[in-house]
Amino acid sequence: MATRDHTHTTAKKTANTTATLLFISLLCFASLLLCLSIFKTTNTNTNTNHISYNNQQTLTRSSCNHTDGRWIHDPTFTFTQYDATCKDIFKGWNCLANNKSNALNIVKWRWKPRHCDLHPFDPLWFLQRFRDANIGFVGDSLNRNMFVSLVCALKKASSDVKKWRPAGADRGFTFVQYNVTVAYHRTNLLVRYGRWLANHNGGALESLGYKQGFRVDVDVPDGSWVKATRFHDILIFNTGHWWWAPSKFDPVKSPMLFFEKGLPVIPPIQPHYGLDMVLKHMITFVEREMRPGAVNIFRTQSPRHFEGGDWDQGGSCQRLEPLSAELVDQFFSLKKNGINVEARLVNQHLYAALEGSSFHILDITHISEFRADAHPSTAGGKKHDDCMHWCLPGITDTWNDMLMDHLRTI
Ligand SMILES: *[C@@H]1O[C@H](CO)[C@@H](O)[C@H](O)[C@H]1NC(C)=O
Ligand SMILES: *[C@@H]1O[C@H](CO)[C@@H](O)[C@H](O)[C@H]1NC(C)=O
Ligand SMILES: *[C@@H]1O[C@H](CO)[C@@H](O)[C@H](O)[C@H]1NC(C)=O
Repeated sequence: MATRDHTHTTAKKTANTTATLLFISLLCFASLLLCLSIFKTTNTNTNTNHISYNNQQTLTRSSCNHTDGRWIHDPTFTFTQYDATCKDIFKGWNCLANNKSNALNIVKWRWKPRHCDLHPFDPLWFLQRFRDANIGFVGDSLNRNMFVSLVCALKKASSDVKKWRPAGADRGFTFVQYNVTVAYHRTNLLVRYGRWLANHNGGALESLGYKQGFRVDVDVPDGSWVKATRFHDILIFNTGHWWWAPSKFDPVKSPMLFFEKGLPVIPPIQPHYGLDMVLKHMITFVEREMRPGAVNIFRTQSPRHFEGGDWDQGGSCQRLEPLSAELVDQFFSLKKNGINVEARLVNQHLYAALEGSSFHILDITHISEFRADAHPSTAGGKKHDDCMHWCLPGITDTWNDMLMDHLRTI
């Protein structure tokens, strides 16, 4: 009896399971259809100036981790997106024109994600996909480095270009045939800052003995991009290189003094706490002021490769090949606290601040950490080696490949 009962239950269970499986399959199929139809709708939207997007989940849902991979050398590869004649390349970054010995070899290294391929940038796809859209880079000179790559590649594909300065930008271009505008808004700290001198009438900072420094308003966007959120459909932000820059913001002689709501933050805080406050305020500002349907992207920190000292201590970057994984760890590990440690440090602050926001993260740090060979170095035309910016053509072209792959999933 017990056995029969058992058999009976098992049979019933099997029937139930079959029904459940059938139901689940139907559900899967239905949701697949739904997804496909959403995808189709997204695609048909491409010709309107509204950019549809599904916030940051899109990126986590895509199965391939683009930063997990390696650089592969392909001596036969010829880079054809643009060349040293692109007028927008800042002189110090034009390693071909400046005869850097490995300038031609830099672009023969291709980034290969382990589980997928990175598509090379397709300027015509980009111009067609973002017809009638405005794309703004907001940040320091490393974002300009990336902006120039994009402009040079797009100009090669479509030469009818109007040069202008939209929405307070430092520089910008409209690709007339497609009505696509790309602009660069220069800002070092994202927020407004300027010289601060003690007031002889006294004040909270004066009473603590401060005589001079830089006033940094953590809640006031820099004038160079305050109008960018209302203008652009895609914004790519960065900040980081100026936060650990003692030569400018000397902690003793010219410290950063943070202000919130127009009043000094008391007790005064260290720059890394200031960065947290700035990120918090600026993320809120952008999310409040952005155009409906706009896409906000934060680019992670670009690594530097100084060896034998920092930039002002005779540091240099003479390598002609990418670093091995072991050397990457030596250069950038937070535990080893090397000269170039700020790359991963800045990222910790970024990731913490961006969590739960609608921003997409474009992680270029790890792939770039390998490329000690790709800076202008002594060919930068400065008194010191430039181991911070990148040769063009070069690594920031790969950043734009990644940007395009990200945008394809949106
Ligand atoms: C992607 O790969 C990088 C490099 O191997 C790794 O540090 C990171 O944790 C990975 N990200 C995810 C979401 O797995
Ligand atoms: C680079 O080499 C070319 C050819 O030898 C020369 O004409 C040019 O002046 C060099 N440029 C620089 C910046 O040294
Ligand atoms: C170009 O695009 C903008 C939106 O970014 C739009 O307002 C404008 O009307 C477009 N111009 C033309 C000529 O289509």
